[in-house]
Amino acid sequence: MALMLRPWAFLLFLALVSYDESGLQSTRNGVAQATQRVFLYPQSPKVSSIVSTKYRTAYHFQPPKNWINDPNGPMYHNGIYHQFYQYNPNGSLWGNIVWGHSVSTDLINWIRLEPAIERTTPSDINGCWTGSATILKGGRPAIIYTGADTEKRQVQNIVFPKNVSDPYLREWIKPDNNPLIQPVGQGLNSDQFRDPTTGWIGPDGLWRIAVGADLNGYSAALLYKSEDFVNWTRVDHPLYSSNASTMWECPDFFAVLPGKNSGLDLSAAIPNGAKHVLKMSLDNCDKYMVGVYDLKSDTFVPDTVLDDRRLWSRIDYGNYYASKSFFDSKRGRRIIWGWTNETDSSSDDVAKGWAGIHAIPRTIWLDSNSKQLLQWPVEEIESLRREEVSHQGLELNQGDLFEIKGIDTLQADVEINFELTSTDSAVPFDPSWLLDIEKHCREAGASVHGGVGPFGLVVLASENMEEHTSVHFRVYKSQEKYMILMCSDLRKSSLRPELYTPAYGGFFEFDLEKEKTISLRTLIDRSAVESFGGGGRLCIMARVYPVTLINGGTRMYAFNNGTSTVKVPQLKAWSMRRAQVNVRMG
Ligand SMILES: *[C@@H]1O[C@H](CO)[C@@H](O)[C@H](O)[C@H]1NC(C)=O
Ligand SMILES: *[C@@H]1O[C@H](CO)[C@@H](O)[C@H](O)[C@H]1NC(C)=O
Ligand SMILES: *[C@@H]1O[C@H](CO)[C@@H](O)[C@H](O)[C@H]1NC(C)=O
Ligand SMILES: *[C@@H]1O[C@H](CO)[C@@H](O)[C@H](O)[C@H]1NC(C)=O
Ligand SMILES: *[C@@H]1O[C@H](CO)[C@@H](O)[C@H](O)[C@H]1NC(C)=O
Ligand SMILES: *[C@@H]1O[C@H](CO)[C@@H](O)[C@H](O)[C@H]1NC(C)=O
Repeated sequence: MALMLRPWAFLLFLALVSYDESGLQSTRNGVAQATQRVFLYPQSPKVSSIVSTKYRTAYHFQPPKNWINDPNGPMYHNGIYHQFYQYNPNGSLWGNIVWGHSVSTDLINWIRLEPAIERTTPSDINGCWTGSATILKGGRPAIIYTGADTEKRQVQNIVFPKNVSDPYLREWIKPDNNPLIQPVGQGLNSDQFRDPTTGWIGPDGLWRIAVGADLNGYSAALLYKSEDFVNWTRVDHPLYSSNASTMWECPDFFAVLPGKNSGLDLSAAIPNGAKHVLKMSLDNCDKYMVGVYDLKSDTFVPDTVLDDRRLWSRIDYGNYYASKSFFDSKRGRRIIWGWTNETDSSSDDVAKGWAGIHAIPRTIWLDSNSKQLLQWPVEEIESLRREEVSHQGLELNQGDLFEIKGIDTLQADVEINFELTSTDSAVPFDPSWLLDIEKHCREAGASVHGGVGPFGLVVLASENMEEHTSVHFRVYKSQEKYMILMCSDLRKSSLRPELYTPAYGGFFEFDLEKEKTISLRTLIDRSAVESFGGGGRLCIMARVYPVTLINGGTRMYAFNNGTSTVKVPQLKAWSMRRAQVNVRMG
């Protein structure tokens, strides 16, 4: 889980802002601090309030109100998808964390249930934090999660469904033997011991889980073993550890078959040729290593070890954290969920009454090169598409802006293929850019003319372009191959003050001879802009709060600002319907 122990969070929480059932803000005495900034521009009729419902996403996962963070225990069981999440039932800042619970048959429309795990026992009274679900033999689900106990130590607890025949698994019971795992043993720190993974069975038939921890001051995914999933013993070595980083939150461990987008169940027999992935959350982003699970030593062995963690691959190069994957046995795929926070101020969040969304669930698999994970929005999201516009055979010369009209520019799904006419003007790639890609995206922005690129998409733009968010590529030549830069530049995304507006970016290798076109897919959902470059090689999730969005008339364009002409053999865009995300029933 993301601990969020920031001084402001406590200060603002002390302001005792509460919300009544209608979701409207009500305040108690002495709350000047929180109420003063409900309207950012009280004097200006033109610039509307952050509390406008127009910033609320229409098809991303979120509860009707309040704070959410990490996705927890996602699973598919008896025809139903379950999504749990770190939830503050009392307000829109972090605190009082329990497990919110929602169910779905399509991963898009969700029914909200009562919280599944609440702070009721000595081993979780100070917080029911992140954990994972495992389907045990016979199909019985179990959830192991981190509790903050009476002394605020981090311990691992278990819950089981009260009635496995209840299709929604509404109630979960805590056996008396919690906590199952105490933060004891050599090198452990009881403040840095959390977020157990889904369990898997080793060749000896015993269950295993990994837990994120600080071990003698370095980061580790600690390994535990059990015969019955209840009585756990720490293995004398971690699954994997590193002293190149700080504590790992939310480790995720799974198997993948290179080049196959079908998923694998970690507890089933793992086929020959499979690789393993260890994902960890640190430095405000989710990083991963590809390697093998060595059964003899019972450890994860990465294919490549990079001492400088700035170079570690990322699940997403934008605003995306604490992700968790699960095997979807209904469709034989692996799906990953991640959390995306607000990037306005915490007082804005108090005023809005809500904070945090989950990114669209993504199918995740390994490229045939065995190096790179690929991700793509689950196909169910396409059921929300309505009006379609389609263009073929466009040509974008330097300085061209092509307006995409005829769809809802606030809720859209856009797919563009870019084809290069020449790579002669591609600039050489400089590996030092990899150490700070955001800096390179700032220096090589959409208005800085280049050789091949920048070209891409501009979304949520005001008529005069004073506000706009661009998602674009640049192509660089690197010995035998090409390196593609993808940026999602938020620096002009809003005229509002106090927003976090970086220029996110990442690089991916590309075989232009073989693939010819570079694809971009962007899901626009009001304050969320979620992009997938190069067929899912690089993902960037972003949050934006343009003033134009409130006043109406946001525009969308394809553009090219490189000297080399770029063709667009295909551009398709759809308006997206609102999904039924946790709206109250009846
Ligand atoms: C909500 O806040 C009140 C007042 O601080 C507290 O008594 C209550 O336990 C909280 N509820 C939850 C579910 O955390
Ligand atoms: C368990 O759930 C099933 C299906 O909803 C229901 O028929 C049954 O009565 C429940 N059992 C108990 C003990 O509540
Ligand atoms: C728990 O497992 C350990 C190791 O297998 C064993 O020594 C111990 O007796 C077990 N404890 C219980 C209560 O079953
Ligand atoms: C880092 O960890 C490795 C083992 O994982 C160890 O051999 C090495 O000495 C450590 N380096 C430092 C600087 O602690
Ligand atoms: C959330 O948003 C803030 C910007 O306010 C950012 O600095 C922070 O790192 C984000 N991510 C997480 C995981 O908290
Ligand atoms: C393209 O470059 C021009 C001149 O630098 C700039 O004014 C324009 O905003 C750029 N286009 C985009 C989409 O950023």
